[in-house]
Amino acid sequence: MAHYFAMSKAMKPKIFVFLLLVSCSSLFNLALGAQSYQGKWKLLKRSIGVSAMHMALLPNERIVIFDRTDFGPSNITLPQGKCIKELQSSDCYAHSVEFNPATRVVRPLTILSDTWCSSGALSQDGTLVQSGGYRLGEKVVRFFKPCMDCDWEEDQNGLLSPRWYASNQVLPDGKIIVVGGRYQFTYEFIPKASSSDQRVYQLSFLKETRYSPLVPNNLYPFLHLSTDGNLFIFANDRGILLDYVNNKVIRSYPVMPGSVSHNYPSTGSSVLLPLKLFSTDNDNNTSTPDAEVLICGGTPPDSNEKANVGIFVPASKSCGRLIITAASPKWEMEEMPISRVMGDMIMLPTGDVLIINGAAKGTAGWGVARDPVLNPVLYHPDTPNSDKITRFEVLTPSMIPRLYHSTAHLISDGRVLVGGSNPNMNYNFSALYPTELSLEAFYPPYLSPTKPRPSIIAVKPGLKLGYKQKVSLEFTLKGNVNQADIFVTMVAPSFTTHSIAMNQRLLVLAFNDGVKKTPSGNYLVEGYAPETAALAPPGYYQLFLVHDAIPSRGTWVHIKEY
Ligand SMILES: *[C@@H]1O[C@H](CO)[C@@H](O)[C@H](O)[C@H]1NC(C)=O
Ligand SMILES: *[C@@H]1O[C@H](CO)[C@@H](O)[C@H](O)[C@H]1NC(C)=O
Ligand SMILES: *[C@@H]1O[C@H](CO)[C@@H](O)[C@H](O)[C@H]1NC(C)=O
Ligand SMILES: *[C@@H]1O[C@H](CO)[C@@H](O)[C@H](O)[C@H]1NC(C)=O
Repeated sequence: MAHYFAMSKAMKPKIFVFLLLVSCSSLFNLALGAQSYQGKWKLLKRSIGVSAMHMALLPNERIVIFDRTDFGPSNITLPQGKCIKELQSSDCYAHSVEFNPATRVVRPLTILSDTWCSSGALSQDGTLVQSGGYRLGEKVVRFFKPCMDCDWEEDQNGLLSPRWYASNQVLPDGKIIVVGGRYQFTYEFIPKASSSDQRVYQLSFLKETRYSPLVPNNLYPFLHLSTDGNLFIFANDRGILLDYVNNKVIRSYPVMPGSVSHNYPSTGSSVLLPLKLFSTDNDNNTSTPDAEVLICGGTPPDSNEKANVGIFVPASKSCGRLIITAASPKWEMEEMPISRVMGDMIMLPTGDVLIINGAAKGTAGWGVARDPVLNPVLYHPDTPNSDKITRFEVLTPSMIPRLYHSTAHLISDGRVLVGGSNPNMNYNFSALYPTELSLEAFYPPYLSPTKPRPSIIAVKPGLKLGYKQKVSLEFTLKGNVNQADIFVTMVAPSFTTHSIAMNQRLLVLAFNDGVKKTPSGNYLVEGYAPETAALAPPGYYQLFLVHDAIPSRGTWVHIKEY
């Protein structure tokens, strides 16, 4: 393994600064000029029959979508004979659907227990494992396999504690940790395979970080698996590093500056920035890359209380970055161009972060947000931060407000699906912000029709990837290949709800310098799979080849200890 891409990438910002100094005005014009493409929106379906509160992408390219089961009819019925029998009546409406982005076909699914404000993750075999919810659904674990005509299966006693507004993360051993939930200051593991999974573990941090019992501002905690295998947990305005095996908090991080709450109902969003699997990025030259978290948006702590009496205060503009593996971590703060609560943060295959959906005033909850934010914003984490340069780019607005109970999800072709929004108690099509059953796609700027897109034509040795294994990627590209502008990324599909993309993870693979030309005129790069399961927990990922900041379509790979 000779040279890594990190070198050329690290040089880029300097070149950018230089250009800015010599020709500030022309760059400025370029950025605002007519030829710059700021993305576009497309309505895929006016109604998919349910409001997309929760979304997950499966390895068969289908998106599973659901909201809740406890509020009467949806706008899509179950096939004949599939009605769900209840005590007094029967419910013949579907509350979950499977959507095929390629054909736009919607298939109604049968979900039995209430999934309202639940959590989930894609397990290592590609099954969506989904947990908790409301009332009779609060301890249920549900499974949805990626196969033709499959439907939900449910384990009524899959959890030991009721978990409503909890968060999930896949761990290096393939298990899923489920953290918190309303009035639950504990965590547990699913599935219940060993005796250590048969108990709940106390976590007082979840109690200590509540703003108040009624307005906790710390539900749906943000979880990120650090590169050392421990779990970063952020709730309200601060984070810890948890050794979940020994039930020990091993680090407490500084409070994020700004007096802003970032978790439900003050809902901000959080991502683990791209993990760069080459040593040059790491100050201390170890083989484990640093892990850096970015948290954006939220509200002043009392915003929900005020919204409940009709005072809608502006949401926060603040973003904070924290290197959670640093010896003395310190928040680096910056401001988004637009205030936002309930924004979704989606890692794009290029390593940029799309901030999309949400409102500029109020909080999450029923009827308590105002001023929908229609413009997505793109955040470029590698652009140097100074008062002359912004890392943020404001993109083309949607026409449809996406407030409480909306979602967004990256799909394989590089588009971002956007759906949901239902800040109403029921389906209500005459409310101030009506229940949204529509599904849109946002085309990020890299899908500009004038830009040549690389295309992966073969992944050797195929779908299965062992840790550290060499990956040969063959691709085509119209036009010249610029070696310095190539990299390979690997994205874990998320389970997205309430502005959190659970288990979202993007790795930038190390690869050998030198793009080879194949006899057939294609190109070949050789990369290396991540070294450990702490870097990439076992399971399905999408591999993207990125050239000149334009990603190919993603191709599925499966990593585990083969
Ligand atoms: C959903 O169904 C209701 C009742 O039939 C109807 O009034 C409403 O227009 C439908 N909404 C959409 C978006 O299809
Ligand atoms: C950093 O790592 C590289 C590659 O392993 C090694 O050649 C180099 O000597 C290391 N540098 C320091 C300062 O430890
Ligand atoms: C690298 O190690 C030194 C000495 O242990 C420490 O002071 C420094 O903060 C470390 N840097 C990072 C990014 O961890
Ligand atoms: C819909 O929302 C409006 C405004 O909040 C309310 O007046 C109305 O009763 C709601 N309708 C239903 C069917 O819940």
